Amino acid sequence: MKAVIFDLDGVIADTAVYHFQAWKDLARSIGIEIGENLNQQLKGISRMGSLERILKFGGREHDFSEAEKLSLAEEKNQTYRGLIATMTPADLLPGIKNFLAELKDAGIRIGLASSSKNGPLILKNLGITAIFDTIVDPSKLKKGKPDPEIFATAVNQLGFQPEQCTGIEDAVAGIQSINGAGLFSVGIGVPASAHADWTIPSTEALTLDALNWNFIRKQKLINP
Ligand code: BG6
Ligand code: MG
Repeated sequence: MKAVIFDLDGVIADTAVYHFQAWKDLARSIGIEIGENLNQQLKGISRMGSLERILKFGGREHDFSEAEKLSLAEEKNQTYRGLIATMTPADLLPGIKNFLAELKDAGIRIGLASSSKNGPLILKNLGITAIFDTIVDPSKLKKGKPDPEIFATAVNQLGFQPEQCTGIEDAVAGIQSINGAGLFSVGIGVPASAHADWTIPSTEALTLDALNWNFIRKQKLINP
């Protein structure tokens, strides 16, 4: 295995709660109440894509001009940036710090494939920017997750083949993107479990030994 490519929100840090809080406030300001069910469907989905889903859920998809939608998305982002401003290295999810160190020591390259335009800022607040060998810029992509483009781009930027790489995700859309791009997929938590090559209940279970074992096991199944 040459590289591990990470999703950010829900894998490296628990920013999903901040996204949810910011969307909940924004939705409420236009008379829409959103709950955990819809929140699950927003994971991995771009800012504008998330707004469209919320407006549709509230039956208001035809009520706003493009300019108004951009301003609603900007308002959400301001709330979100206020929430992530307080993040520190202590906000890394359990096991991530050790796992990143294990990968570095083993010479395995590390990439980021997050749909979030706030990714670089969050990596900075978490103190792990320098660990990443490559970061995909989501504003340059044509299609968001579940399209394979974002993970395929990370693999290309590193100069490897997809089957030499692993992708790690918590969202169903993200696992579909990893699988479509042809990487070994690791799913964190229940929603991802039906789709991933290897699923673990939480990031705590991420160790290089366990990953290698499952990665090689899949290769043996393909090429016995
Ligand atoms: C994804 C999150 O990582 O990034 C989504 O799971 C979010 O919830 C998306 O909408 C875009 O993030 P941002 O920070 O660019 O609004
Ligand atoms: Mg995620």
